[in-house]
Amino acid sequence: MTQLALELQELIATMEQRRAKVELGGGLERQKKQRAGGKLTARERIHTLLDAGSFLELGTFVEHQGGRLMQGVEAPGEGVVTGSGTIDGRQVFVFSQDFTVLGGSLGKMNAAKITKVMDLAARTGCPVIGLNDSAGARIQEGVDSLSGYGEIFYRNAIYSGAVPQISAILGPCAGGAVYSPALTDFILMSGGSSYMFITGPEVIKSVTREDVTFDQLGGADVHTRKSGVAHLEYDGDEAVLRGIRDLLGYLPQNAREKAPVQPTSDPAGRRNDALLNIVTPDQRRPYDMHDVIHELVDNGTFLEIQPNWAKNMLIGFARLNGQSVGIVANNPRVMAGTLNIDASDKAARFIRTCDCYNIPILTLVDVTGFLPGVAQEHAGIIRHGAKMLYAYAEATVPKITLITRKSYGGAYLAMNSRDMGSDVVYAWPTAAVAVMGAEGAANIVYRRDIQNAENPEAMRAEKIRDYKDAFDNPYVAASKGYIDDVIPMEDTRARLIQTFAMLREKREERPYKKHGNMPL
Ligand code: HXC
Repeated sequence: MTQLALELQELIATMEQRRAKVELGGGLERQKKQRAGGKLTARERIHTLLDAGSFLELGTFVEHQGGRLMQGVEAPGEGVVTGSGTIDGRQVFVFSQDFTVLGGSLGKMNAAKITKVMDLAARTGCPVIGLNDSAGARIQEGVDSLSGYGEIFYRNAIYSGAVPQISAILGPCAGGAVYSPALTDFILMSGGSSYMFITGPEVIKSVTREDVTFDQLGGADVHTRKSGVAHLEYDGDEAVLRGIRDLLGYLPQNAREKAPVQPTSDPAGRRNDALLNIVTPDQRRPYDMHDVIHELVDNGTFLEIQPNWAKNMLIGFARLNGQSVGIVANNPRVMAGTLNIDASDKAARFIRTCDCYNIPILTLVDVTGFLPGVAQEHAGIIRHGAKMLYAYAEATVPKITLITRKSYGGAYLAMNSRDMGSDVVYAWPTAAVAVMGAEGAANIVYRRDIQNAENPEAMRAEKIRDYKDAFDNPYVAASKGYIDDVIPMEDTRARLIQTFAMLREKREERPYKKHGNMPL
């Protein structure tokens, strides 16, 4: 072997040794501890998430530039693994925080690795996925680490709506660090092993004397049921990673594209006879809107988002003849489907998510109105409800509204009526569109007649019947063009598919503005 060949061999060996050291992260002991906590390592997560063999690592040899307090500290891979790969053959960018290296804490160069893949994702028009498992700002790096967060938040905000951004929380995510996931489109958490909070239990105890565990304060249960911060909870890392793959299937690569169409074995013309047993004309008999959705969509598959928060409002993705659609629906089974603050926030955000990513919206309406109450009024139901109105009006994607039963008052408008920009409004024969329910209406409009009648109860019943005859049906609204057609329930799937196909090339221009001033 020549001298040059020997030198080359040595150089290659050095590269391999360095790479092996980086790939080992914080070492076998810390990896063991990580696995003992039921978690995968940063690299295992990436390989589980991506198509086999597709990971292309970037920034492999980046090292910290951490100043005096970091002198002599080793941080292989800088505490985060970054690069790109494919999911179902579609390119994505990914960063995976490595808790085995300084607790996955974020310093300047760690942040630089993350912003590098975010920039590449934006430039190439691909989703970016963050796998979060970090003790937060790297304490030794002081303000540099705060600046690192700033660089990430800035990109989260400016790339918002340009490319999908998905955050998985697979360990600690505390302090200001929570704001990166909070600025992304979706947050998925692993139950039992992840948490998110601004101030931890110790600080809370010293300030408010409240005693709380990490999990009680910011575990997956809390954020998917109480706060609405997170969208989905899964049992363990693998399930979260599968969840990300599933979710991405409904989304396009970027704001210029449409979501992929997935061929389906479910016939477009499949009749929906089952609906006749789910929704009856008896307005007081509640039903579960999930059953309606499952009956309508391809193979009954509905990826419900935020299924355990504000359950009076259902949101999620499904497919109709292979085409991804976002569904927004009242659920009359919960609080009679009324709109409250959380339901309004939940729907408004989802409508905007669908609109940024060109996903048509189907709205299923069965709603008596906004939830009455001092607490709701004082907490700003006006401001929150306005978000829904704004989001629907702003959305330029194809929008179909289907009124299944009641649609009353302000909620009629908030659930995307014709006037609020729905492209096509359908109703079932069971629908009723009115300012309010017949009983309330009769009591207000005919109060004097009822009071003065010889038999007030008989008069009340008569007036209720009168009002029902006049408005408790879809035909008054249809006669004025507010409803485009009253359709047989059994034909609904076919109708929706045909109508979305009709709207597929919809274009809607809006007047010039910098951006609207959405009520927040
Ligand atoms: C540098 C850190 C670190 C940090 C932990 N480590 N936190 N290194 N900066 N913030 C190191 C530890 O020294 C340890 O190193 C390794 O990471 C694992 O930490 P452990 O404490 O042994 O792990 P564990 O027992 O599992 O506890 C995890 C933890 C705890 C609960 C997250 O580490 C913790 O409370 N860390 C501090 C969290 C924090 O206050 N971060 C700052 C938040 S403020 P060795 O070498 O022993 O393995 C913030 C502001 C962001 O983030 C602002 C953005 C705008």
